[in-house]
Amino acid sequence: MEGAMSGLKNMIAERKMVQERAVSGEDPPPQYILEESHRPIDDPQPTFPVPVVHLGHSDETAEIKAALQSWGMFQVIDHGLSSSFLDEIRYIARTFFKLPMEEKQKYSNIIDGEFKHEGYGNDNITAEGQILDWNDRLYLSVQPEDERKLELWPVNPSSFRDVLHEYTIKTRKLINYILKVVAKSLELDKDFFSSHLGDKSRLNARFNYYPSCSRPDLVFGLKPHSDATLITVILPDKDVEGLQVMKDGKWFKVTTSPHALLLNIGDQMEIMSNGIFKSPVHRVVTNPDNERISVAMLCSKRT
Ligand code: OGA
Ligand code: NI
Repeated sequence: MEGAMSGLKNMIAERKMVQERAVSGEDPPPQYILEESHRPIDDPQPTFPVPVVHLGHSDETAEIKAALQSWGMFQVIDHGLSSSFLDEIRYIARTFFKLPMEEKQKYSNIIDGEFKHEGYGNDNITAEGQILDWNDRLYLSVQPEDERKLELWPVNPSSFRDVLHEYTIKTRKLINYILKVVAKSLELDKDFFSSHLGDKSRLNARFNYYPSCSRPDLVFGLKPHSDATLITVILPDKDVEGLQVMKDGKWFKVTTSPHALLLNIGDQMEIMSNGIFKSPVHRVVTNPDNERISVAMLCSKRT
């Protein structure tokens, strides 16, 4: 047991960011390589343009209900955030990930050899032989505001903190609106979710960086998972696809409009809707030529 523990500690201490591996062009090392039966290449992958929900239209409740029952996700274009603001969010994400490694490591999620949830890093390693994802990330708690760990919020680019703060406020507003519509679609009081969440609602930001990968057939950017959240808002990369969602046992490539925000529900919503809405299983594949950046805002009830 002790041997295994120190083995894990060493793996955590010696980990290398995926970005460093991608820059040197190395093929994915064994700890990233999926078992043959899990590899992405085996699946047929039709493209799935995510249903569009028109907020503020009289059909919004029916549209959300249909989208959540079939896919567990939908895209919103009339979300009230300007394209230039969405580009600012993409800019702060990209600029951060392009900083020199020493600069990014100031925000490391490994403190004294211990894995922390917040900060810059990648997968926690909890078992020897664990297959790692081809993904680096910056994970920050953004609400409640008085629990922010500001020392982990980058100061470069200089707009980082202001833009993330503004994005937090705007995302919260969007989520609150959507949750009212979701409640109506379940024939519940429109304040069902807000009264259930009370002051226990939490919002986390996860900036995802998927470097290009010489062997996208062997690795995942993110392994298949469902989100543990109530609801998640994703700002997808403008140019590079990679997200896939499972429906009826098949994987579909997700495509969205460049101005869209993508919303998916998580496990907490599956439970709170009594299973009427299923938390979708999704995954991210990598790309040999292009890196991909996304920003996920994860809304959940604190337990
Ligand atoms: C996630 C996630 C999808 C993406 O962060 O949980 O599923 O497109 N991200 O990066
Ligand atoms: Ni996810």
